Amino acid sequence: MVTKRNLAMTTAMLSLCWCGALAAKVTASADGRVMRLDGGGVTYALGVDDKGYVQPLYWGAALDANAPLVAKSPAELSGFDPAGSITPQEYAGQGEGLVSEPGIKTIFADGNRDLVLKYRRHTVSGETLSVELADISRPLSVTLRYTIDPATGVIARTASVRNGDKAPVRIDQIAAATFTLPVGDDYRLRYLTGRHGAEWSQVDAPVTPALTVLESRRGSTGHGNQPWFAIGQDGRTSETDGPVWYGALGWSGSFRLTVGADNLGRVRIGGGYNPYDFSWSLKPGETLTTPIFYAGYAAKGMGDASRRFHAFQRAAIIPGGARAKLRPVLYNSWEATTFNVTEAGQMALAEKAARMGVERFVVDDGWFGARDDDKAGLGDWTVNPRKFPNGLKPLIDRVKALGMDFGLWVEPEMVNPNSDLYRAHPDWVLHFPDRPRTEGRNQLLLNLARTDVRDHILGWLDKLVRDNDIAFLKWDYNRNWTEAGWPQVAVEDQQRVQVDYVRNLYYILSELRRRHPGLEIEGCSGGGGRIDLGIMALTDQSWTSDNTDPYDRLTIQDGFTQAYAPSIMMAWVTDSPNWANGRQTSLDYRFLSAMQGSLGIGANLDHMQEADIATAARWIAAYKTIRDTVQRGDLYRIAPPRADRATSATFYVSPDRKQAVLFQMLHSSMFRDNGAALRPQGLDPARRYRVRMLDGAALPDGVPGEASGAYWMERGLRAKLKGDFQGAAFLFDAAP
Ligand code: GLA
Repeated sequence: MVTKRNLAMTTAMLSLCWCGALAAKVTASADGRVMRLDGGGVTYALGVDDKGYVQPLYWGAALDANAPLVAKSPAELSGFDPAGSITPQEYAGQGEGLVSEPGIKTIFADGNRDLVLKYRRHTVSGETLSVELADISRPLSVTLRYTIDPATGVIARTASVRNGDKAPVRIDQIAAATFTLPVGDDYRLRYLTGRHGAEWSQVDAPVTPALTVLESRRGSTGHGNQPWFAIGQDGRTSETDGPVWYGALGWSGSFRLTVGADNLGRVRIGGGYNPYDFSWSLKPGETLTTPIFYAGYAAKGMGDASRRFHAFQRAAIIPGGARAKLRPVLYNSWEATTFNVTEAGQMALAEKAARMGVERFVVDDGWFGARDDDKAGLGDWTVNPRKFPNGLKPLIDRVKALGMDFGLWVEPEMVNPNSDLYRAHPDWVLHFPDRPRTEGRNQLLLNLARTDVRDHILGWLDKLVRDNDIAFLKWDYNRNWTEAGWPQVAVEDQQRVQVDYVRNLYYILSELRRRHPGLEIEGCSGGGGRIDLGIMALTDQSWTSDNTDPYDRLTIQDGFTQAYAPSIMMAWVTDSPNWANGRQTSLDYRFLSAMQGSLGIGANLDHMQEADIATAARWIAAYKTIRDTVQRGDLYRIAPPRADRATSATFYVSPDRKQAVLFQMLHSSMFRDNGAALRPQGLDPARRYRVRMLDGAALPDGVPGEASGAYWMERGLRAKLKGDFQGAAFLFDAAP
């Protein structure tokens, strides 16, 4: 039954059934011993061994239909390595001496903590493979569900545990999926880490028997580790070549991914709810379904892996899929006015934004309640009458008359203790009775797991969007969880808050979108603190980082696009010197950095001279000619930004390969001009391309105006940039 409570989960599950024009093949051998998913040039296979364990058999480049795949039970290796513990299980229960990370760990009402999952049945329904595992004696089953995307080979997996017993079973740990790679001592893991203002740093580290744990204990995805991994092999895998296994968990709460070699050297990857503050008392007859773990294989290096994942996200995750609109160029007033928003001030900014070619005007924090700084007002979502005496309508009308649509900042999950909402409902926040309520940015977290809180938030958001002509919400979230108590429910159910909170967040977002089909939403959490494939399914774009320095952004963007699509990666042009680090850069450089994602303007337009407004207008017009390619094309990382390299470059190629754009960025000139040519990738070698500078400047000496794709990819090209923080963009157009 689809209740309001599980609707968000159901919505998420629907994307499991996504199928494009190409066919994915889900098959099982005649004897039912081997099950395969084939699509996008990838084969994933699992099989049942003679003892009934389900084993991973293969994950990699497509195999022929008759490939000999057999699941064999290993014999005991030693007294320390009994057969059960060394069998590579597709999804293991914690039992029978398992010494690696289990898929699921349970405690039954009678104290039994042994869980051994074996094959019970499988079904192939449409393009979904379901494999049911069951404990060897207790009525507890786990159903693994799989689909494979026919275009990219991305597999989507979930696990559902069902309690068929007469008493509750406590689930202490549950993964959405576990994956296994063959024995090898040359695997390398790439992951993303960081902190506020410094998200998306890449780390490459060897995979060892010591487990690497990528996790968030923050209640949300967090700025720390991303729920994403990519594994290559030393000496084989580079940006442009070699095998890569990659994946990401679609979950916006506390998560845990583990990567490590097991006792026999097989690499095990697992991911699901973070067990550190999780338990679920699974009632008789109840089923708990995990979020979706998406994972893929690429044969042509890290670039191939990210292009496949981007394409999958654009087609199957981002709202609207292939029909999703291009991101409009937006203006956001936060860095210009912070909390000092007024009708007159915002109108003045809107006039200038419109003259530059901005398409969406967004009023950030400060428009509501007693919100003059970050100490008060969150929770009281009524328009501040001093700042907007006639409500938002006059400003919205003006913005629309100027040819833009209107957006507004909200932070629905939070409350300041200094607010009418908190004074009326102090019990609505996450807390433990008689314990401190730790504030972050002077705010507390509303407990969205409570249905009354959920309905309150949905109610005021629905009214706000209904009563005002609002096209866009920037949905912010500015602190971590502390004292994550839910005292109103039974003790054994209180840790459900980790799941129910996020499910209700998804519910509010999906219900708001359902009621207002034109509404677009940007996910934000103090910058990029809550970006993952779960929230991506319900938001149209993401605020990448509060760090808007254009040089730092190149590294941030390089990290972001390892995992996620550039189309949702919002990038603003802001003031110089930059607030984050004081760096001074030219307006041209700032634009060229921001144009590599979805362009926004966050500068204080009141400080811009007429000449700057004209420059901005030229770049915005140029961006509109390439944004289809940047947002929907393939990204090739030609020269990643590195502290020890002077130049970085990205190359975007449109899906039909008729347009491409090369961004060349110079950090700092050294030893006169000795840069190497940048060699584009992904062009059609046989086609001829005309090349010009995106800003209309003359081509550098030695760069011909037209040549074949093969020529450009072999010979390369570059602008001879001098000085510090310089940039250039080359536009490639297929000759008619
Ligand atoms: C967060 C966001 C910023 C801005 C402020 C407003 O820090 O990341 O972009 O919206 O909140 O308070």
